[in-house]
Amino acid sequence: MRIAMIGTGYVGLVSGACLADFGHHVTCVDNDAAKIEALRGGAIPIFEPGLDVLVASNAKAGRLSFTTDLPAAVGEADAVFIAVGTPSRRGDGHADLSYVYAAAREIAGALRDFTVVITKSTVPVGTGDEVERLILEANPAADIVVASNPEFLREGAAIRDFKFPDRIVVGTDDERARKLIGEIYRPLSLNQGPLMFTGRRTAELIKYAANAFLATKITFINEIADLAEKVGADVQEVARGIGMDNRIGPKFLHAGPGFGGSCFPKDTRAILKIAQDHDVPLRIIEAVLAVNDTRKRAMARKVSNALGGSLRGKTVALLGLTFKPDTDDMREAPSIPLVTGLKDMGAQVRAYDPAGMEQARQELPDIDYCDDPYSCAQDADALVIVTEWVQFRALDLAKLKDVLRQPVVVDLRNIYRPEQMAAHGFIYESIGRGTVHD
Ligand code: UDX
Repeated sequence: MRIAMIGTGYVGLVSGACLADFGHHVTCVDNDAAKIEALRGGAIPIFEPGLDVLVASNAKAGRLSFTTDLPAAVGEADAVFIAVGTPSRRGDGHADLSYVYAAAREIAGALRDFTVVITKSTVPVGTGDEVERLILEANPAADIVVASNPEFLREGAAIRDFKFPDRIVVGTDDERARKLIGEIYRPLSLNQGPLMFTGRRTAELIKYAANAFLATKITFINEIADLAEKVGADVQEVARGIGMDNRIGPKFLHAGPGFGGSCFPKDTRAILKIAQDHDVPLRIIEAVLAVNDTRKRAMARKVSNALGGSLRGKTVALLGLTFKPDTDDMREAPSIPLVTGLKDMGAQVRAYDPAGMEQARQELPDIDYCDDPYSCAQDADALVIVTEWVQFRALDLAKLKDVLRQPVVVDLRNIYRPEQMAAHGFIYESIGRGTVHD
């Protein structure tokens, strides 16, 4: 099977490398010549554990190559994946489809025999129809089927998610395309990854509905955490207790500072726009977005409260800046509104992140960056755990207490136990763990 992967961003690069690892011949295409040159030299432009090794081994085996020559890659492909970016359009929150449509037009001119064109980018419902229309308009003789195959990768766990998926959603009613895509993913059936065939529009909606549902689940437990704090209950136990019900499930019930990243905020905004265009109010998802935005801003107040209500003249040390561990991605990270809030309240802010400091400097140029957790905590009035990097899970608590000016720890990810922190003499605040004991 010969595959062309258009777009070497996060989804394109991970999918391309994994499909090559299944034994297919994959050509990754990008119009950024410098990026292609770097990839050919083995440099991986994103931070994803294991991706460098996967790319190198498949490139060496001759199954994975990189080019700017889209027509050549498409011309010899059985399947062409469109995996270009669909950022939020400035101003209105709609997904910006200009890259998808540009790719469709370019593909149209390069098609030879029967080809399945598969959108992997997250696109609004109906985009597959438009991609098909654009291709046939530019090349009326083209023998194509346009299918939707949304991606459910999590950053930091993308290779595992690709190789051991809960499901693969394939949206097309065309039997030839179903067969070909089934063939592409055949190696996965060995890992029990079930293929779900459905209509194209349905597949497009599944992607948005899945992300909106997960964002809702997180927001739900975050609100329950606020209540738990007030009534003296422990949200971790509540999550465990409700998650043991199979109908609810234990995942995505970890309370925290609010969701961020490249998908949940963008996709919840986009599904709301789609719904508005169709005059269907999605009030639950509207509330999820609003609650999440407010929550991220409220985290600075939580730090201030832990320090007695004022941050003027205080120094706050942050551990973790990226939106989650194992990534250098700062998109919509809770740390950004947190830093703004802390500075607005008069605090000096310094921070350490294991992988995200370079990206963070662009978003947050006005804070001090430190080399490790302890130099970050040195003489600070409070230490705030913002991202649950594994490096922060077993800090030397005695040393930490020694270097802090005040023994205040605000743990926005609940990676420590209140009793343990109290035993070490810390004033410890976390999320949704009330202090009233029965
Ligand atoms: C998400 C989806 O999981 C993935 O299927 C989709 O394709 C892309 O978007 P990702 O954004 O990489 O993946 O990360 P994820 O692990 O889902 O976390 C997203 C955000 O939710 C993070 O800010 C994370 O901290 C937060 N989160 C997640 C919680 O606050 N609590 C949880 O229980 C889970």
